Amino acid sequence: MPAITSSAPGKMILCGEHAVVYNQPAVAIPVLTLFTKTSIFARPTAPKGEIFIRADAISLAENLNILPNENPIRQTIELVKEYFSLESLPACEIHITSTLPVAAGMGSSASLAISLIRALSEFIGHPLPVDQVNSLAFEAEKVLHGNPSGVDNTVIVYEKPVFFQRDHKPELLKVAAPFHFVVANTGITASTSEAVARVRTNWQNDREKYENIFSQIGQISRQIREFLELGKFCETGELLTQDHTLLQEMGVSCPELDKFVKISLQAGALGAKLSGGGMGGNMLAMVTTESADRVAAVLASNGAKKTLHITLPASVEE
Ligand code: MEV
Repeated sequence: MPAITSSAPGKMILCGEHAVVYNQPAVAIPVLTLFTKTSIFARPTAPKGEIFIRADAISLAENLNILPNENPIRQTIELVKEYFSLESLPACEIHITSTLPVAAGMGSSASLAISLIRALSEFIGHPLPVDQVNSLAFEAEKVLHGNPSGVDNTVIVYEKPVFFQRDHKPELLKVAAPFHFVVANTGITASTSEAVARVRTNWQNDREKYENIFSQIGQISRQIREFLELGKFCETGELLTQDHTLLQEMGVSCPELDKFVKISLQAGALGAKLSGGGMGGNMLAMVTTESADRVAAVLASNGAKKTLHITLPASVEE
């Protein structure tokens, strides 16, 4: 029997991380060149319900029942079983590979959940529609991160740029012209749940200041959405840098991210910011096709562990 295979991309947030947890809108884009892939092979001769997991990137090769309860792969499989009211799954071997950096603001956990949910639901003969995959992935994110906004699973599941606000239907964005970015990894792994918890503590200590920051960020998200739809590059870039300043004030940047932002701008980027939970992870610089290589080279020679060019293509009419 051939393997069932499914994949899910990564994501970057253009604006609105953290503020989105407090009901402000965010704008996020998929990163289609990096992805998690899940393959499931049936094992008809193995004991009922026995599931073997292989994830070479994290040196994992174990039976599922050996994994701790809080393991995200185990959690996601449990959610799928619960959703379909299954006591057990048919015996199988699950292979997971990923080209996404972990704990780096690119949505590795949501991408894993989505590729696994898609593959498992197909494996048991009930492939789920996209909205259902999204809701289950949101449940998986809740188990892992406590209080996620849902932006990561949403942009990853739809694989389109989104304007996302909690408790609102996500809006898929139209993009007038291609936008180019360079992403640079600080090499500092950073837990999203810790960053979210830090902001919560700060907010509890000074609600007025934080709510003011959140609402300024919400306003920037609304403007960025318009500028993407109009193809306004310089204006979008400026807003990204403004967003970074607000994230600094929020206490989720770090010296390495601030340095990457500064040198990207000096090298000709139109705007730059941390992206995702912050406190490490990745920085996103908006560039032109002319400045992209220069910005990437400057980042690489100033400590970036990895750089990546990404393009947000213009939307095609459907
Ligand atoms: C993480 O990619 C984005 C955060 O806003 C958390 C969330 O929205 O759940 C930091």
